[in-house]
Formats: sequence, C-alpha cells, structure tokens
Amino acid sequence: MNTSYDILIVGAGHAGANAAIALRQQKFEGTIGLMGNEKYPPYERPPLSKEYLAGDKPFERIMLRPESFWSERKIDLLTGCRVSKVDPMDKKVTLSTDDEVRFGKLIWATGGSPRMLDCPGSQARNIHGVRSRADVDKIMAALPTTEKVVVVGGGYIGLEAAAVLTKLGKKVTILETMDRVLSRVAGKTLSRFYEEEHRQQGVSVELEAMVDAFETNEDGMAIAAKLTDGRKFAAEMFIIGIGIIPETGPLVAAGAAAGNGVDVDQHCRTSLEDIYAIGDCAAHSNRFADGAHIRLESVQNANDQAKVVALDIMGEDCEYDSVPWFWSNQFDLKLQTVGLSTGHDHYIVRGDPANRTFSIVYLKDGKVIALDCVNATKDYVQGRKLVEAGLTLDIEQLANTSIPIKEVERA
Ligand code: APR
Repeated sequence: MNTSYDILIVGAGHAGANAAIALRQQKFEGTIGLMGNEKYPPYERPPLSKEYLAGDKPFERIMLRPESFWSERKIDLLTGCRVSKVDPMDKKVTLSTDDEVRFGKLIWATGGSPRMLDCPGSQARNIHGVRSRADVDKIMAALPTTEKVVVVGGGYIGLEAAAVLTKLGKKVTILETMDRVLSRVAGKTLSRFYEEEHRQQGVSVELEAMVDAFETNEDGMAIAAKLTDGRKFAAEMFIIGIGIIPETGPLVAAGAAAGNGVDVDQHCRTSLEDIYAIGDCAAHSNRFADGAHIRLESVQNANDQAKVVALDIMGEDCEYDSVPWFWSNQFDLKLQTVGLSTGHDHYIVRGDPANRTFSIVYLKDGKVIALDCVNATKDYVQGRKLVEAGLTLDIEQLANTSIPIKEVERA
C-alpha cells in the first residue's frame, strides 16, 4: 500500500470500482487507491440474493472485472482495509490498523450495512444478513443442515432469498412488518401479485408480523422467531432483509453535511473540499423524486454517479440526472422498474397479472413517473422514455396492451 494517492476511493463495491474504471477511461493518469473492507476483489452484489445463493454462478462469474484488471490499469486494490477516521484538513484517512493514507481527492463509496434486529436472541450465529459475499457464504454453508428458514422483511432481498431457498427445497416463511410486501418501492397491486406468487410457490407470507425476540438453545443458536402477538415460527436459519444503514460514520464525524446519507450536490461533491460521495450512501437531489433529497440503493445510481465523479475530477461539466432503474428476479418472474413510483396519485395496469406478463404505469398529475414491468421488457424499454420526458398520455391507450407504449407516445 502506498501512503498517498492522488485519488483515494473508500469502498470497493459497484460505485467505488466503477469510479476507478471511469477515471482510467477518462485518461486520468494519477495514482488511484481502491480501498475496501472486504477481502475479495470487487464483485456484483445483486446476484448474492439470486444466482450466487442458488449456486448457479460461482464467485468468478460475479466479479466486476478479472482479478488482473486492477493492476493492469494501475489501480491499487487495497482489500481488507477499514477506514475509521477522515481528516479533511490534512487530507488523510486513518485505518483501523492505525495506518494513515493521504489523498488528493477522496471518493467515499461505502454503501451500507444491513440493518439487523436488536432484540433478545438477535445475536445468534444462525441469523444472517444478505449484503456481502461473506454473509451469503455463511448461509450456503448452513444449507445442508437446514430445512426451515424464516426470512424477516419482504423487500427485494427477503423475497429474492425466499424464492431461491424455496427452489432449493427449503420451507420458507416471510415475516413482514407492514400490511404488504415491497411497500417501500412499489404500489399495492404489485405487492399483492408477489405475495400471491410466493404463496403459490409454497412460501408462507405473514404480514403485519413484528418479531420481538428469538428463542435460542443452549448452543446460542436461534430456534424460533417470536412475534409481538405471541406466535412463534421455528426454523434452523433466519435471514434478515430489513434494509440498510448507510456507512457514513467517519465522514460525518469529519463534519460532512449529512442526514439520511452524506449530502452531495449534482456533481457528487460533499460539503467538504475535495471529498465526493457516491452510491448507496450519498443523498442527492433527484429530479425523478420531484427534487427531493434521497438515497438510491441501486446499481444504476452507483454506476452513473461514478461516471459523474470521474468527469468532474477531469474538469468536465457533468451533472447527475439519470433516470432510476432497478430489477429483481424471483422464480421465473423478471421485474424491471424505471422511475420512482413514490408519490403517484394514479396507476393503471397494462395486461393481466394472472398471465404473469404485465406492467403497472404510475402517474402523478397526469404524467408518467414510473413503471413496474413483470416479464414485460418491451414496456420497460419503451416506458423509460415516458418517464425521462415526464409525458402526459392517453390513459385508456396506455392500458391497452394491443398498442405498444411507443405508439401511445407518438399519438
Ligand atoms: N420486521 C419485518 N419486516 C421489516 C422490519 C421488521 N422489523 N423492518 C422493516 N421491515 C420490512 C420493510 O417493511 C420492507 O418491506 O423489510 C422490508 C425491507 O425492504 P427494503 O427496505 O427494500 O430493504 P432490503 O430488501 O433489505 O434491500 C436492501 O438491497 O438489493 C438491495 O435494492 C435493495 O438497496 C436495497 C437493499
């Protein structure tokens, strides 16, 4: 490890790794340190709850680049390093080992850590998050001795893990605290569709289910999740997918403006000079959320902010203004989302959910603000333009699946 880098990137996930890649693509010739607390080279996170957990893709196939890439591009990959302190005046970071590394510019790309439950028994070894390769390796190692799994949280992570584990023959129960799954990210119709799908595939979906303790045995292993209403769900494995907490501690301690994440402007600059923040941990004003200051937890946001930072460092004029998109694979259902549906005042369903191919178009003040497309890639691709342009369209035509979305747009 050098003791000084022109650009030090803290966090080697999608955002950090892509910032390093983008800098070299932009012909940045200075030194780059790409520092991460995991011991592995940068890898794709979405497959962790999908193909990697299913055993369909080994680690080599989810690496963002072959291992040799980083040294070939003269990017110093610094694995197993945790930054505990940032000094914005002296422009240096301190690691948990007390080593210090100086920087010309710092890119904070630390993402988040899985929020875990804090209740009696919640420290048991068989209660797992799903955020890193290490988390999922632990889950996979325990599968041969697991029949029943309780998944806490019915967001993307919980639902995807439940789908994979069901396909692997496990008996899965989802405990969701709200009255529907996917409540943070989608409208009711989509929630009901996914609840029904999971139930048909054999998953028990328990809504308004609040865990207040885990019963443990003498080995310190959890044996049941206990709800506030007294019901108990026994299992050999417990998976928690109740969201993430942005990793911002050292930057906030250094004085960076922050709320839910580190505040950044349209160039991804924080309030501290020469310090940027990108990806899941960065709160930015987003046009597709009516200018609200939000964090986006997505590969799209990580990659696009990485490019903005690289261009800004190279002195190019570039502002973050990308349309958000997400995806989720569960069973044979491919969900593709474009835009942000939060705040919609109307929605229409294109197609029949019973056919397992349909889209939900979300509108606000007559304008299309988002689409959730299930096994309907054409709608997703064509709908993207509607969201980008914020178009007002004929609702009846939009609901008519015999008219392609691009034709509605032309009309
Ligand atoms: N008990 C049960 N359910 C809970 C609890 C709780 N104590 N607290 C929250 N939940 C539910 C929420 O209501 C929500 O439905 O857990 C779900 C969490 O969903 P998300 O916030 O979307 O988080 P998660 O699914 O963990 O995803 C975290 O990983 O893949 C990415 O896009 C995903 O960025 C997101 C991140």
